Amino acid sequence: MSVQPIGIFDSGVGGTSIWKEIHAMLPYENTIYLADSVNAPYGLKSKEQIIELCVKNSELLIQKGCKIVVVACNTATTNAIDFLRKNYKLPFIGIEPAIKPAALNTKTNAIGILATKGTLSSSLFNQTSGQFATDVNVIEQHGDGIVELIESGLLESDAMRDLLNRYMEPMLNAQIDYLVLGCTHYPYLIPLLLDILPPSVKIIDSGEAVARQTKAVLQQHNLLNNKTSNPKLEFFTNGSTRVLQALVGDFSDPKYLSF
Ligand code: DGL
Repeated sequence: MSVQPIGIFDSGVGGTSIWKEIHAMLPYENTIYLADSVNAPYGLKSKEQIIELCVKNSELLIQKGCKIVVVACNTATTNAIDFLRKNYKLPFIGIEPAIKPAALNTKTNAIGILATKGTLSSSLFNQTSGQFATDVNVIEQHGDGIVELIESGLLESDAMRDLLNRYMEPMLNAQIDYLVLGCTHYPYLIPLLLDILPPSVKIIDSGEAVARQTKAVLQQHNLLNNKTSNPKLEFFTNGSTRVLQALVGDFSDPKYLSF
């Protein structure tokens, strides 16, 4: 049993969608969330740059006493999780696009995946896609600009609606029945996507699976917190506290931290 916090980081505020799943599944765990918004988006950076940023974030969480680190970013996971697991002792949980359930369940034999360039071009993603989706028509779409708009607090804007309409068009033409959200910022787009997509298209993401995996790994390492007292929920950003506040303000007041 361990009261040490669960550390979670993302290139910005998007990973709070994963934090919410983890908090719902493990409500008494103390957590520390880092939003590296100053360096967002990671999706257009090189693998070496992404590894460097992940090391910086992980070391800060380790320094703050975290017992496990959740890399709440598909781009960071697909480019840097191997490096992190090789170089640190504590367990790391990653997130990857949920291409497997979409490929296994599609009836139209066409699925869409919206993710960053960094995720779609990573060897880890291409390995998973090659393993499960070779016989399926996979429409890949880089979500250029989406992370930037969310980080600027422009989630529900005309600019966002225009981008999404544009990105969904080839997928609708290909008659997808599953849309995989391969970036942790994107679950916040679901209300907008529901206005664009027909009800026949199911939207899936990996948030709940990550929370389940976090719980399983903590259990395996005997690191679950068995206390049932109010947890300490801390959120730090090196960008705008206002944007982070809009997403997690119901739980805690985010603080600015230079990192
Ligand atoms: N939330 C990150 C992800 O899951 C955003 C990527 C980015 O910073 O470009 O991929």
